[in-house]
Amino acid sequence: MSRDGFGSKIGIIAAAAGSAVGLGNIYRFPCELSGNGGGAFLLVYLLIVLCLGVPVMLSEFVIGRATQKNPIGAFRTLRPRSAWPILGYLGVICAFIIMAFYSTVAGWTLEYIVKAVGNQFHENGVAKDHETIVAEFKAFQQMGWKNVLWQGAFIFLTGFVVFKGVANGIEKYTKILMPLLVLILIVLGVYTLTLDKAGEGLAFLFKPDFSKITGSVLVSALGQAFFSLSMGMGVLITYGSYIKKDDNMVTTSLSVVLADTMVAVLAALVIFPAAYSFGELPPKPGTEVNGMSLIFSTLPMIFNQMEGVGYFLCIIFFVLLAVAALTSTISLLEVIVAYLVEELHLPRRWATVLASVGCMALGVFASLSLKEGSIFTIAGKSFFENLDFISAKVLLPVGALFIVIFVGWIMGKRWFNAELTNDGKLKLSIKGIVYFIIKFIAPLAIAVIFISGLLNP
Ligand code: PHE
Repeated sequence: MSRDGFGSKIGIIAAAAGSAVGLGNIYRFPCELSGNGGGAFLLVYLLIVLCLGVPVMLSEFVIGRATQKNPIGAFRTLRPRSAWPILGYLGVICAFIIMAFYSTVAGWTLEYIVKAVGNQFHENGVAKDHETIVAEFKAFQQMGWKNVLWQGAFIFLTGFVVFKGVANGIEKYTKILMPLLVLILIVLGVYTLTLDKAGEGLAFLFKPDFSKITGSVLVSALGQAFFSLSMGMGVLITYGSYIKKDDNMVTTSLSVVLADTMVAVLAALVIFPAAYSFGELPPKPGTEVNGMSLIFSTLPMIFNQMEGVGYFLCIIFFVLLAVAALTSTISLLEVIVAYLVEELHLPRRWATVLASVGCMALGVFASLSLKEGSIFTIAGKSFFENLDFISAKVLLPVGALFIVIFVGWIMGKRWFNAELTNDGKLKLSIKGIVYFIIKFIAPLAIAVIFISGLLNP
């Protein structure tokens, strides 16, 4: 059976970057920054991305390209009759879990497109104030079924693109729209720097308070790094399976890591100066920061301040955010669909329907759990937060840990080097250091951080 592939080299970069850049960068990253003390978190995050980003990503790409299979098939091909394929199953489960709560937030982007088009951040021609916009966001969260409806629409959209096949689906859009997203973020960043309390926002980001670093902050940074780079659950194995035998995977992964980190840092540079200037931060005494409303209140406020162009920029921004989320949900659904098609031999159409319905079924509980007094809570936290926690802070680190162990210790240096250099055709002077990180540094760092999080929750 011939497999769908990506048209060009930029195709796979666009697709992997499309998976990486999404709500994780623009929504979750600011949430985590605000909840974990700002500067110190940022520093640890960047350190993790710098040291582990490319090596872990390469481990996944190499497994995918060597086998040209979905994660389960890949491990089964490389180590038949072993327990390693379990790692692939874990990835499929993780894709379900992430999809379930990610699609809730993705649905919100659709609601905010409608709000933007309808000029609903204004009333009778006057821009609404910050408190009203926050209150309206919270009121929207209480409308459980409206959330579910948007979520369903988003999953449907994802299923539609996945059904049409990976290659012709994503790369066309990502190539044009992602640079546009970066451009808008730069424009917004320059603008928010002129706001009156921008300095406080920058101080929050760039004056690290090292006493804030605890085990749980470390795990949050690790989890955020893996989440943002789509690592540790097989998306990159799946996309790696489409990489051509003569492509340079090192430059591919470098480009993806760079693009992803740039978008995340830019988003933080937009959000925090604005959040301090509009009074969302620092949190009022006796209250906690509500990371969830952070972008959905500060962004409309920024656009409100830019009278005139603000209206159009607001629409364009939320559309781009929705597209960025879509190229991420596509990659998640693709992991499940690839498994159903290649391992269970379902026709692609039915695999897509089944995967979408499955994500929706779990996702309903995530959306409804955000209502006040919802019964869908576990251990005092909403089902949504539990899904987020278990995927980003448990499954992704554990997945990544075993992936690097697999490449570093089970497959070994000769196999890795041959794959990475396309059987010696590429001269890569960094292959030694990359392998050293995969074999020793990455497993150690991930294990130590993970354990420190368990000891200091
Ligand atoms: N990386 C995506 C984002 O930051 C989310 C994602 C995580 C996608 C894991 C696939 C796998 O938005």
